[in-house]
Amino acid sequence: MDTYKIILEAHSGIAYVALFTVGVAAINALIGLSAKNEFKPKDRRIALFGLIAAHIQFVIGLILYFVSPKGFSLFGQAGMKEIMGNSELRQMAVEHPIINILAIVFITIGWSTHKRAEGSNAKFKKIAIFFTLGLLLLLSRIPWNVWFS
Ligand code: HEM
Repeated sequence: MDTYKIILEAHSGIAYVALFTVGVAAINALIGLSAKNEFKPKDRRIALFGLIAAHIQFVIGLILYFVSPKGFSLFGQAGMKEIMGNSELRQMAVEHPIINILAIVFITIGWSTHKRAEGSNAKFKKIAIFFTLGLLLLLSRIPWNVWFS
């Protein structure tokens, strides 16, 4: 197996972990918020798992972008006009990386602002808002047809 295949396999597998842990963290925070629960160390850990998985996926995605034939190298072969005019090429070379980086920025903002927030309600709220937003962005740009083929 070459380097590209190994990194693609890793990115494809960790995608499950990242989506699952970010999803669980968002749901846990939404439940904590609506039930007015106390923010416990377990809630912090659940959010931390999501943050770490998203960051690992970001690093692997970034490497993949430069070794994949569907990433940065496309710009050397096709012009910007051709890439932007083709929805499949645009999805992998432009939309998936940019929107997913934005999603990970949201998740990171949720994590850092929850630390500064005072009180359980405020902590759950930061995680609920930013992790849910991040998750929706991630889900909007997954190449479902390629992933499950
Ligand atoms: C949590 C964030 C992310 C998730 C859940 C995710 C998920 C995925 C999935 C499921 C695939 C399809 C894998 C397959 O074909 O088996 C994929 C492909 C890809 N991702 Fe991501 N990704 C994320 C972030 C990123 C980032 C930040 C970048 C780049 C900076 C990136 C670059 C790529 C590239 C270039 C491909 C296509 C690789 C190829 O088929 O040759 N991803 N991603």
